[in-house]
Amino acid sequence: MAQEKVRARREALGRHALIRGDAMNVVRRMADRSVDVVVTSPPYNIGLAYRSYEDRLAERDYIDWMSVICAQIARVLKADGSFFLNIAGSSSQPWLPFELITRLRERFVLQNHIVWIKSIAIEETTYGHFKPVNSSRFVNHNHEHVFHLTHKGDVRVQRLAAGVPFTDKTNITRRRHAIDRRCRGNTWFIPYETIRHRKEKYLHPAPFPVALPTACLTLHGYDENTVLLDPFMGTGTSLVAAEQLGVRGIGIDIDTRYVCVARRRLRAALANPGSDPGPAMDIDDDRADDPP
Ligand SMILES: C[S@@+](CC[C@H](N)C(=O)[O-])C[C@H]1O[C@@H](n2cnc3c(N)ncnc32)[C@H](O)[C@@H]1O
Repeated sequence: MAQEKVRARREALGRHALIRGDAMNVVRRMADRSVDVVVTSPPYNIGLAYRSYEDRLAERDYIDWMSVICAQIARVLKADGSFFLNIAGSSSQPWLPFELITRLRERFVLQNHIVWIKSIAIEETTYGHFKPVNSSRFVNHNHEHVFHLTHKGDVRVQRLAAGVPFTDKTNITRRRHAIDRRCRGNTWFIPYETIRHRKEKYLHPAPFPVALPTACLTLHGYDENTVLLDPFMGTGTSLVAAEQLGVRGIGIDIDTRYVCVARRRLRAALANPGSDPGPAMDIDDDRADDPP
């Protein structure tokens, strides 16, 4: 929710649009059925220290606010479009993502529920990073949700393009696959890069890795006419992914400084294709803020 009225400011960068403004007002002015893919990570309402957004509303207000924005997203999303909503709960608000997604049943079909695994322990080895929760009641939060919402649940997805090679190559002929590729399923292991200083994650409390919007776009499918919208773009990670894939991006954030960061990242991506390493998290990932 915007704490104060913000006048929207729009700029073009390459084929992309960066907009400093309140997502609610900006999306409201966009044309019906004008967007192919929405990839976004809104504020989670878990008390993160954003610069200008107060991330701690009453749960009911938060869900009301998000459902109004999502109604606008439903309006601008094309009939065969995909809305990837990345969100997570916390130990103190474990129901929130589920309550939100249940409310969104009014507007969307939940076509796929993808679990973004940020860290996993396989036998004795841990891969990826997470913020340790100091608690005798709660285990660490190592995953987030990516809800793939569509109008009717019938959008064709690019399972193989987003997929992986077979481990057992005999499956290719045995199962009559044309190529060495299979669906990766609904668990995506996408770790943060390790960083040494918070500056490296653009002084933002909650960027996601470029690989996440890239995976969403790849699953939906894209070409040079595809339009991606991120109404809560933060540091512009989705737009960097859009640029790398040759997709047109529209990014909105309410905070001037985050829009500056997004501008810098997008300029770097335009100047040196493939140059952005993606925002990284250090071992002390401060995305969650759980009570001890
Ligand atoms: C979870 S962060 C997004 C991070 C982004 N995915 C990235 O990789 O940097 C949520 C963002 O929503 C922005 N925000 C909060 N309220 C907003 C509003 N009403 N309109 C637009 N942006 C808003 C915050 O400033 C914050 O940058």
